[in-house]
Amino acid sequence: MMCELLVEGGERLYGELTIQGSKNSVLPILAATLLCADTCVIENCPKLRDVDASIAILRYLGCCTHWEDSALVVDTARMDRAVVPDALMREMRSSVIFLGAILARCKEATICYPGGCELGPRPIDLHLSALSALGAEIRETGGELKCRGGTLLGSDVYLPMPSVGATENALLCACGADGVTTIYNAAREPEIVDLQNFINAMGGNVRGAGGSIITVEGKRALHGGTYRIIADRIAGATYLCAAACCGGEVRLRGVDTRPLSTVSGALSEAGCTVKSGEDDVFLQSDGSLRSIRPVRTAPYPGFPTDAQPVLMAALLKSAGSTVFVENIFENRYRHVDELARMGAEVRVAGRVAVVTGREHLHGARVKCTDLRAGAALVIAGLQADGLTRISRIEHIDRGYESIERDLYALGAHVRRETGT
Ligand code: UD1
Repeated sequence: MMCELLVEGGERLYGELTIQGSKNSVLPILAATLLCADTCVIENCPKLRDVDASIAILRYLGCCTHWEDSALVVDTARMDRAVVPDALMREMRSSVIFLGAILARCKEATICYPGGCELGPRPIDLHLSALSALGAEIRETGGELKCRGGTLLGSDVYLPMPSVGATENALLCACGADGVTTIYNAAREPEIVDLQNFINAMGGNVRGAGGSIITVEGKRALHGGTYRIIADRIAGATYLCAAACCGGEVRLRGVDTRPLSTVSGALSEAGCTVKSGEDDVFLQSDGSLRSIRPVRTAPYPGFPTDAQPVLMAALLKSAGSTVFVENIFENRYRHVDELARMGAEVRVAGRVAVVTGREHLHGARVKCTDLRAGAALVIAGLQADGLTRISRIEHIDRGYESIERDLYALGAHVRRETGT
């Protein structure tokens, strides 16, 4: 079914939102449920297309899942396969994260090479070398990766760069290895801390997440339990950016505000008032923003690449020019051509993009090219004169439970039109 989002610009945003559970936390945690042969209850589990893709993989592997309101119940006791077929791998690039977990549980795993990605080439070499360091033997034949982990041994894993996925894959695999593993130059994202906390709640022993050195004690007998996913900091950033450029007063609840500080710092610099509490953040804006110092994306705790498109969209009508430098992904300015259809002025040269604020944006027909690019189009539509029609919104549904529900609750005119 073809769906589109229809956005009428011009409304200020007022009110409160409770932020959904984190996509980037829940995906590795769903893979981690395979580490035990028991029932895990994942509370605050966001209902997303990427979560559906993970559920499809878990079921194919022989696990049972069902929803109880916003909790996903996963019973991994009857897992009886160690293969993820091509069709399921293609649904979501993060499915590669299942590799480490399946290896830990079954001592073997076969997956297809995850397909290309809209953000440019996203190789998995770091994932594979981390698993090899733990003793996995990996053979690639015809796009299929066959891994054997009969003798997984805890060891030192050095990551040449702090890849989030490779850190998670190494951590998961290390749970099934004999002895202690130390991961050096680990990614420090809050979602990795969430994964550590989940594994420890199941009886594991993982230390150091949030820092660059993580140690994992392998082969501990893990049990099921109940665990609550942290709030999605990128969804939080999206709604802060929306309120900043539309003007209004918005309070986001249930968020850890520290990981949002790079984004809220940028919005304060642009002229908003941002007040962070223990687990809520309040933003007030008159809707007229000014340009800010260069925004450079970097691994956590730097400015998140996932928030780059939404911050850029928030600055499309700002006074002056802002420079963005994208250091994580090669192809992360695909929203720019679509934004130009709405009258935005953004010049791109390689990793650098310069946004010059315009007095007006106008509604247009635009197309999502990836998840956060889609969110950027919604934010642009909220500031544009007239109607914006956004197609290919399945990209947005990968990561937002219901962006139209949340924005509508704040007073925006956004609705989903279901075509045939
Ligand atoms: C995760 C997030 C994604 C976020 C990204 C960076 C999830 C599900 N996704 O993606 O939303 O944008 O972190 O914060 O958590 N690389 C290699 N070889 C590898 C692995 C990565 O060269 O084997 C490169 C990538 O091409 C990229 C960089 O490392 O340039 C960072 O990627 P990585 O941190 O691995 O991102 P993901 O885990 O894919």
